[in-house]
Amino acid sequence: MPGAHSQLAGKRVVLAVTGSIAAYKAIGILRLLTQQGACVQVVMTNSATRFVTPLTFEVLSGSLVTCDLFSGRQDMKHLSLTEQADVMLVAPCTANTLAKLALGLADNVLGTMALTLQCPLVICPAMDGEMWSHPTVQAHAKTLQSRGATIVEPENGELASGQWGQGRLATEETILTTVHNVLQPRRDWLGERVLISAGPTREPIDPVRFFSNGSSGKMGYAMAEAAAVRGAEVVLVSGPTHLECPQGVTRVSVVTAHEMLQALTARFDWATTLIMTAAVGDFRAKESHSHKMKKDQWNGEALAVERTPDILLALSALRTNQRMIGFAAETDDLIEHGQTKLQNKQLNMLIVNQVGGEQSAFGNDSNEVIVLTPNSSPCPIQRMPKRELADVLLDHMNNLSGSPRPQPPVSHPIS
Ligand SMILES: Cc1cc2nc3c(=O)[nH]c(=O)nc-3n(C[C@H](O)[C@H](O)[C@H](O)COP(=O)(O)O)c2cc1C
Repeated sequence: MPGAHSQLAGKRVVLAVTGSIAAYKAIGILRLLTQQGACVQVVMTNSATRFVTPLTFEVLSGSLVTCDLFSGRQDMKHLSLTEQADVMLVAPCTANTLAKLALGLADNVLGTMALTLQCPLVICPAMDGEMWSHPTVQAHAKTLQSRGATIVEPENGELASGQWGQGRLATEETILTTVHNVLQPRRDWLGERVLISAGPTREPIDPVRFFSNGSSGKMGYAMAEAAAVRGAEVVLVSGPTHLECPQGVTRVSVVTAHEMLQALTARFDWATTLIMTAAVGDFRAKESHSHKMKKDQWNGEALAVERTPDILLALSALRTNQRMIGFAAETDDLIEHGQTKLQNKQLNMLIVNQVGGEQSAFGNDSNEVIVLTPNSSPCPIQRMPKRELADVLLDHMNNLSGSPRPQPPVSHPIS
């Protein structure tokens, strides 16, 4: 996380706190913001004041907290705050406030301010897992996202109810990194054309059955979003996932390894960097049935399989001066297996992650990896949210010796 003392010097942040059990975590966020030099004005909903007192925020921010539209001097303070703000951060954001923001309701200070905002809005939902996955809540989050708000997704973990699920407020680090990105987006990938593969592939056995794997696509989507935020043109070739396409990214959807190879080959010449995060299936059924196989048609004979195309190897043969980055999912001997792959496929970088077990990279919101490059020793990167990790990995790619520089724009269509 960017940690320099004055990184947010002179920045005016409106921190809006709502009535979630995670309201106390806003204290930590406020402290980090002020430590980094931001001038923070706190706004609280009435429900939030039931969880944490305004006094705490007043002492830590050094300014009065605005809670009530109708109390105190009627000086239209809610309007002047938003006129001056560089960013408004709603953390934690309840399901109730998320709905109000999406619908434009203005029956409290927060809602009224949000309608007069001229600066970026960052929303950090925190709620029970079932609330977060409710279609209404998801629809509100998407509406706000489509209007340009940044949603910092809640994380998986143990919730206040004692249940496990996705609903925990994102970490302070993730929230602060997002605020930094929103305020001062790094554009160090401007001019790069990045081709990213993500997700699993599916190899049909018959119209309803297939070979696949547990890849969620989250790492590849995070890489795509990070590269786009940092200025790159990004094409994401994705196997079947449930993920939303990140803003500013062109997605090409594929199903099988062969389709993925075709989609990547068609765009490889355009790319300055290839990042292969996809978990491409290694095998497919030799024969795929056009009708659903009946149970009683199968007498226990082995299903004949064959290898799918080796995408990295195929693309290596077409390489001009693209940087080629691979990801490897291993269950054991991570470094040894990774070094072999790095060499065999002539990659500039290989990122190895562990699959299997509780800390498996598959499906998780966070990941820890080892970065392998041809001329330096393995570099372990500690566990962190995948979106944050994506930025760290892009930094590592910037440091690759002999990285090709962006080429002049090409004219052929890429999507
Ligand atoms: C103990 C307790 C914890 C709560 N935690 C949450 C929460 O984490 N997320 C949420 O969306 N609502 C939570 N609620 C419900 C909200 O407080 C309630 O919807 C309230 O109307 C939100 O108001 P606000 O959005 O104006 O702050 C909680 C309620 C209680 C009593």
